[in-house]
Amino acid sequence: MPDPNPAALEFLLSRRSRPAKTLRAPAPSRDELAPLLRAAARSPDHGKLEPWRFIVIEAGAMPRLAELAEARARALGKPEVDIAKARGQFDQGHLAVAVIEVQKPSDKIPPIEQSYSAGAVCLALLNAALAAGWGANWLSGWISHDRGFCEAALGLQGHERIAGLIHIATETSAPPDRPRPELTDITEWVSQ
Ligand SMILES: Cc1cc2nc3c(=O)[nH]c(=O)nc-3n(C[C@H](O)[C@H](O)[C@H](O)COP(=O)(O)O)c2cc1C
Repeated sequence: MPDPNPAALEFLLSRRSRPAKTLRAPAPSRDELAPLLRAAARSPDHGKLEPWRFIVIEAGAMPRLAELAEARARALGKPEVDIAKARGQFDQGHLAVAVIEVQKPSDKIPPIEQSYSAGAVCLALLNAALAAGWGANWLSGWISHDRGFCEAALGLQGHERIAGLIHIATETSAPPDRPRPELTDITEWVSQ
């Protein structure tokens, strides 16, 4: 017989992100963040490679990252709108966890499975933060895929990349839900 956890299921059926720009201080303290990181690190991981790690970007680091994002955007000749966007998530950020995908050498586990596991860590952290009552949002933006920024801002090495920047702080409002897919459109049942 199944052993249901209705509260957990109800959470999963109603969860939704809180846009990063609507978040306010305070952000979780290190002690408050620890169980959320622990929950995220329980994500499925084929072969126990642990192909991920966390870089916690606290408020004090946001101005440096905003400056680096702008410098990188200007060096690449990006339009002003992209420069503003690249700075924006750091200018407005209170705390963000960079989930870093760390590709591990393996004969058995293909790189894409390691990427999937890093994505799972992002969602697990987002959900843990929401379940703990924080507002949270998974962001990326071109800056998170830019090697120059990743190396200068976060010291990433060649086998590492940003899987997601999970912004976590105090929510000010819950947004209206967005349209969700019709199950019949995305589900195929195979019975023989
Ligand atoms: C890999 C990934 C990157 C994303 N990057 C951004 C982003 O840079 N900016 C943004 O507004 N939303 C971004 N999103 C979308 C939001 O995180 C989120 O999907 C959306 O706000 C709705 O979330 P919900 O289904 O939890 O309500 C990204 C989502 C994923 C999965």
